[in-house]
Amino acid sequence: MSAPDPPDAAPSPIAVSEADAETPPRDGPAEVISDESRRSAVLDRRAATRPTLSLVIPTYNEAENLPILIDRLCSVLSLIDYELIVVDDDSPDGTWRLAETMAADNSRIRSLRRIGERGLSSAVMLGMSTAEGSVIAVIDADLQHDPRVLPEMIKPILADRADIVVASREVEGGSYGDFTTSRRTLSVAGAALARTLTGTPVSDPMSGYFAVSRAHMERVAPKVNPRGFKILLEFLARGDRPRVAEIGYEFGLRQHGETKLTTSVAFSYLLSLIGLFTGRLLSATMTAYLLVGLFGVLVQFGALGIATTAGITFAAALAMEISVLSNYWMNNRFTFAPERRRGARFISGLVPFHLVAAHGLLIQIGLVTTATGTTSGLGEGPLGYRLAGIALATAGNFALNRHLTWRPRTGIVDL
Ligand code: GDD
Ligand code: MN
Repeated sequence: MSAPDPPDAAPSPIAVSEADAETPPRDGPAEVISDESRRSAVLDRRAATRPTLSLVIPTYNEAENLPILIDRLCSVLSLIDYELIVVDDDSPDGTWRLAETMAADNSRIRSLRRIGERGLSSAVMLGMSTAEGSVIAVIDADLQHDPRVLPEMIKPILADRADIVVASREVEGGSYGDFTTSRRTLSVAGAALARTLTGTPVSDPMSGYFAVSRAHMERVAPKVNPRGFKILLEFLARGDRPRVAEIGYEFGLRQHGETKLTTSVAFSYLLSLIGLFTGRLLSATMTAYLLVGLFGVLVQFGALGIATTAGITFAAALAMEISVLSNYWMNNRFTFAPERRRGARFISGLVPFHLVAAHGLLIQIGLVTTATGTTSGLGEGPLGYRLAGIALATAGNFALNRHLTWRPRTGIVDL
């Protein structure tokens, strides 16, 4: 990639007009223009007309905050060639409509209204994929991120001294403002865990306020797991070690609306950390499924102990049913949170889940019976065969549940 433009750069002399790039010269012998030179001419032209900064603004119910933010951005960025990309997930409060109105009046603003999908990271990725700038940055719309540090954030990237610049609450000049103690504890613990697991030296790897170079974004974007709230972590941990700079800022108080960071988001953050740590060996969904399965085994043994007095056959059946129900509840609440079944669908989901569990049971018993040559009940036979049976049944059950009980809305299955 060519070097990024400094702010306010005149068009580069290598820029070619549309006609130059697309057609051979009219006079003289027809010159053959190779695909490669045509491609590089087009790329040069694009680089020459790029804005310096593309700022992605993810929004969900931020109608009260967005106009104030955009006002502040326009004055802070007045010396920079920039574009603002608002990505709204069809907010019920009509933030997208507001963004569209502002975009009609101001050619620096673009508005993307995403329908049928939710999620901070995936919204940011969508914004990035349409960004034209040499530097691509992300800022929250709720006024918690101070826009005044933006011009400082893009400098190290334009000077090619950094691939990523993080606006941090942890370095000098930065602070958590009036963050509640519990949110602060969560944030500090999450950051410490992220540093340990991914080996990144960044003080605030959970910051939602950062900038990346176009080159780094293009390298890493295809590897990013667009789930949850930890998009910066993905850019820090995937691909080659990026050069990182940090700039302090004071985290503001949210004035309007409410945070979307819920316990289930925190749980999915934990899972993605494990996912990053295991180097994509296990996907976050698979990890959650295994953890829940493990919990189910514990529940089963506990229930078995309690119910033994009522006769062994009855106790085993009861223990099995209790563990199936607890697994169903947890998988529904956590593993498959995006496809979560509620109300009547929660009850009806018990049917496919039980069928899948029964199938797993048959596989377990079948494997032990085949391997030992004697008919064995559940929990009988050599331990090795029983464990192999559990492993085989788990893999099959996961795939079946993914397709029968919690089918992804997009039709794309994340195994
Ligand atoms: N498009 C879209 N879709 N935007 C979203 C969604 C979504 O599903 N969820 C949240 N947003 C937008 C919000 O409207 C806001 O502009 C921004 O993303 C941050 O969301 P908040 O709900 O305000 O997050 P927070 O302030 O609790 O969390 C902040 O701090 C975390 C670390 O403590 C964010 O900066 C996080 O990115 C950061 O990890
Ligand atoms: Mn916020």
